[in-house]
Amino acid sequence: MKKSDFLSQLVSLAKRRGFIFPACDIYGGLSSIWDYGPLGANLKKNIKDLWWKSYVESRDDIVGLDAAVIMSPPVFMASGHLEGFNDVLVDCPACQRRFKLEELKKKGEVSLCPECGSEINLEKNMPRSFNLMLKTFLGVVENKQQEAYLRPETAQGIFVNFLNVLNTTHKSLPFGIAQIGKSFRNEVTTKTFIFRMREFEQMEIEYFVRPQHSDKYYHYWVEERFRWYQEKLGIRKENLRLRQHTKEELAHYAKACTDIEYRYPFSTTSEGWKELEGIANRTDYDLRRHSEYSHKDLSCFLPQEDKRIIPYVIEPSGGVDRTVLAVLSDAYAEEEVRGKKRVVLRLHKNVAPYKIAVFPLLKNNPGLVAKAKKIFELLKNKYVCVYDDTASIGRLYRRRDEIGTPFCITVDVESLSDDKVTVRDRDTMKQERIGCSQLIEYFAGKFQV
Ligand code: GAP
Repeated sequence: MKKSDFLSQLVSLAKRRGFIFPACDIYGGLSSIWDYGPLGANLKKNIKDLWWKSYVESRDDIVGLDAAVIMSPPVFMASGHLEGFNDVLVDCPACQRRFKLEELKKKGEVSLCPECGSEINLEKNMPRSFNLMLKTFLGVVENKQQEAYLRPETAQGIFVNFLNVLNTTHKSLPFGIAQIGKSFRNEVTTKTFIFRMREFEQMEIEYFVRPQHSDKYYHYWVEERFRWYQEKLGIRKENLRLRQHTKEELAHYAKACTDIEYRYPFSTTSEGWKELEGIANRTDYDLRRHSEYSHKDLSCFLPQEDKRIIPYVIEPSGGVDRTVLAVLSDAYAEEEVRGKKRVVLRLHKNVAPYKIAVFPLLKNNPGLVAKAKKIFELLKNKYVCVYDDTASIGRLYRRRDEIGTPFCITVDVESLSDDKVTVRDRDTMKQERIGCSQLIEYFAGKFQV
């Protein structure tokens, strides 16, 4: 399938089945802002829950945080975002569309406008700096004193709470603070579905360590996060790779950074490899800067050494939406079954929005409906299940394949006499008869982690 076709198939499925809709759809959408529908909300929640369970609930060296999205300007003066969080842009003199200098430069000093094809002279058409921060005003008056910013990364909420968390949890190094939440950037390049959004979600850990241990923990987190995508979300290894940043690429605050890249099947650049998550050694830059600007002591006491230090921080920073996109891309398959096209999302059982669907073969048969509903009631407290009788069985199977439901249960006339139902496996399409009293045990085996 052509790369452009893949993306349009995925966008179409996402909308048709209720994963992802353009925001404010009935008013024509809002550029680079997307809403998650019923299935997308479940899928996204499953990803976030797995991350939270892996790093906050299953470990005693990391605590969670949920800081505010709106933050005051001094935070971003200290972090450097107000000064340095810019894209340099060039206007096309013919169509007035705006492009990133970085992208046009790859094509030489004189470039052709990607939109209208006119010549853009990069010397003459003055590049301009454009800050990516989204600003708002608090209160009724829109003046400088009321300015506030929507955070461009969840990380800053963690740094400004470092002291509060330290004082309330009494953690000692090494320890981490984890947060999942929305971030906002007024992005310039905007055409890649949920890959680059203006409102998006991040899953970030700031892991505080002694400076001399920072290399060790940096490598630990690169390996840990690389494995997590495969083991917990079932993303195929051949579609993941690690890419270390060159010195020139490193952010001003970072000593080292490795990206976990996913081979997005729709991307036309660098064979599709694009950043899914970055793991950076941010040194003591952030705590030192916030200490300077806030005049608060953000150091930690080391009892054995009897001294205070500002810790280094290792930051695994992943995008929830980019993970959703990688999971969907990895799972999407088209195949031919008995001369017909079957679209199937082979989602890992951990992330599938619904785990089991229950159907009566005939919706006009009260006995079958009652038995199917009883099975739904039996399973719904253990698994996210759905009862559905809105179409014929063939159509219901096709729908469920398209949204990645791992198992379907069909109750037929025979079920009333033998107390057995048909369980169909999404991936193999194999069907087996299972006794109703065996269902709990049967699915416990199937969903074992
Ligand atoms: N705190 C570090 C930080 O924010 P980043 O590389 O700018 O680093 C981290 O962002 C992750 O957040 C990226 O790897 C990506 O998954 C996600 N991300 C960043 N900008 C995004 C955008 N505009 N839309 C969707 N996800 C984005």
